[in-house]
Amino acid sequence: VCALSNLVIAIDGPAGAGKTTIARRVATDLGLQFLDTGAMYRCVALLATRRGFTPENAEGAAHLAATAEISFQPGDPQKVILNGEDVTQAIRDPNIGDFASAVSVHSAVRRHLVAQQQRIVQQGGVILEGRDTTTVVAPKAPVKVFLTAGIDVRAARRHRELIGKQIDADLESLKSMIGERDHRDSTRQDSPLRVADDAHVIDSDGMSIEQVVDAVERLAREYEASASVQS
Ligand code: DC
Repeated sequence: VCALSNLVIAIDGPAGAGKTTIARRVATDLGLQFLDTGAMYRCVALLATRRGFTPENAEGAAHLAATAEISFQPGDPQKVILNGEDVTQAIRDPNIGDFASAVSVHSAVRRHLVAQQQRIVQQGGVILEGRDTTTVVAPKAPVKVFLTAGIDVRAARRHRELIGKQIDADLESLKSMIGERDHRDSTRQDSPLRVADDAHVIDSDGMSIEQVVDAVERLAREYEASASVQS
């Protein structure tokens, strides 16, 4: 049996570092399931905005997190289904990303989503990415990566991505939004974004998508080789 098919790879990092793009590619190459944990926080955010909740409404958001039915449909890109509705596009709105960051500070919201994420991870053969996947959701994942890049590079990538989707975006305001999001995600009380002790830090400044994908896959193969030597 190929060890890679049961592998768990966890990737954390700040907004716009390319985690989703990289994880999606590695998932396809290695035949792993792809779990986008940020999409789940975005789903809660989408529901909360539709109900007119403020981000401070912890109880309301926790109720939504507990009752929302979130599932992923394989495909390229994979679809996100929320209570039967295809929200793949809707959750990518930058305002929803911001709102997701704000509701993700509430422990009650995190508890519900982390429990769902851990059920998926237990099945094995998954690559997951987010802010706390290497530290809280899957701290025992044999391959852990902290993927980062300078803020200018990340803002420029996001800008290109949005323009490509014909969504209006201003580089400077994107940069300040990303800066604020990083600050909130790494200074919150519960499960802040941080580099896990045994994570491999990949700084993707000046690296192509291909090079980052290769670097992650090399780590996976190294783990596989060391695991098969031990068994
Ligand atoms: O990765 P993303 O942009 O889709 O994430 C949106 C927000 O959700 C992010 O700013 C913080 C929150 N989040 C989190 O708290 N924990 C995760 N594992 C993933 C996302």
